[in-house]
Amino acid sequence: MRKLYSLSAGLLLVGMLSPVAHGKISYAKQIKPILAKMCYKCHGAKKQKGDLRLDTPAHILKGADGEKVLYAGKPDKSSLYKLTTLPKDHEDVMPSKGDTLTKAQQALLKQWIAEGANFGKAGPVVVPAASISALKALRAKGALAMTIARDTNLLNVDFRAEAGKITDADLELLKAVKVQIAQLNLGKTKITDAGLAALAGMENLTHLNLHSTAITDAGLAKLKGLNSLYYLNLYGTKVSDKGLASLKQFQTLKKLFVWQTKVTDAGAKQLPGVYVNTGWKAPAKPAPPKKPVKTVKVINKKCPLSGKAVNTSIYVVYKGQAIGLCCNNCKAKFAKAPAKYIGKVKEFKKSE
Ligand code: HEC
Repeated sequence: MRKLYSLSAGLLLVGMLSPVAHGKISYAKQIKPILAKMCYKCHGAKKQKGDLRLDTPAHILKGADGEKVLYAGKPDKSSLYKLTTLPKDHEDVMPSKGDTLTKAQQALLKQWIAEGANFGKAGPVVVPAASISALKALRAKGALAMTIARDTNLLNVDFRAEAGKITDADLELLKAVKVQIAQLNLGKTKITDAGLAALAGMENLTHLNLHSTAITDAGLAKLKGLNSLYYLNLYGTKVSDKGLASLKQFQTLKKLFVWQTKVTDAGAKQLPGVYVNTGWKAPAKPAPPKKPVKTVKVINKKCPLSGKAVNTSIYVVYKGQAIGLCCNNCKAKFAKAPAKYIGKVKEFKKSE
């Protein structure tokens, strides 16, 4: 294991003087943004330097190479904090490249660990396994019901296979797996607004698909306590802008699909911060390039029809020569029967 380094007295003093607000440090609001900015680049989903990921609470708790990096209540034992306090030129300082953490950031990290390194709501979800009989009952209705990953009890329940047979009564079966459900597909089922009451309180539900059902605004009003809802698909339902108002309560909602509904772009503005897809739209056509105004040199000074001075922007090209006319009226006549008038163009070159 890496040695942990004692702080120099100078650093300690600065740390103590740093303006850290009293009270609980929030992982989501104060710590995660620091890690995201300063550490994810090398310890995130793409790269795991030192076999360490810091982008989820579960990974932070897991540590590096079987070695814990965080000891709740013990910042000085936690390399997650200690390595950020080393001098910038120290070979073990974290981040290993670029700017070091500011004193204020270090102090936040320290205080958060000292307070018990609480992850709050963002913490790893500890969900008991769904009962076998509840899963069997769902599968008997043709639903796919399986955990979303190997190391979790969270479930994906998908009624796609027998969608046409699923009614509100079947949704009662979901109550037995209420805390386990993370993803629920009720697309194309025969459920109605009344049935949606069964979904209330599914606190771990992140993905809900209600596409092509008879759901209306009244159904959306029944959705309550979906505290993790991130993705909601209402494609091909009867919901409108009014229904979207009921979704304002879901702070975690980020993606909303409302193709072929009555939801308007203006209505979607009720949900700032949510990506609302109201359907495919043809991209605005780029304006046609403006034709450059040609300056054409006409060969005659007088209109062959009227004998008046030509307007140089009114002309007809005849046998490769621009013949000027005095007005659009003469232009039209000339264009119809140029041979009849061309003789009058005194300047017309015989050779052409
Ligand atoms: C530019 C890349 C980079 C960035 C950014 C970075 N690290 Fe690291 N980190 C590394 C590398 C490389 C190692 C492996 C070092 C080793 O094994 O000697 C490592 C290892 C670690 C370890 C494990 C040390 C051990 O005990 O072996 C911790 C803890 C750590 N980093 C914390 C952080 C924290 C906290 C941040 C953000 C404040 C951060 N790192 C940002 C590259 C980076």
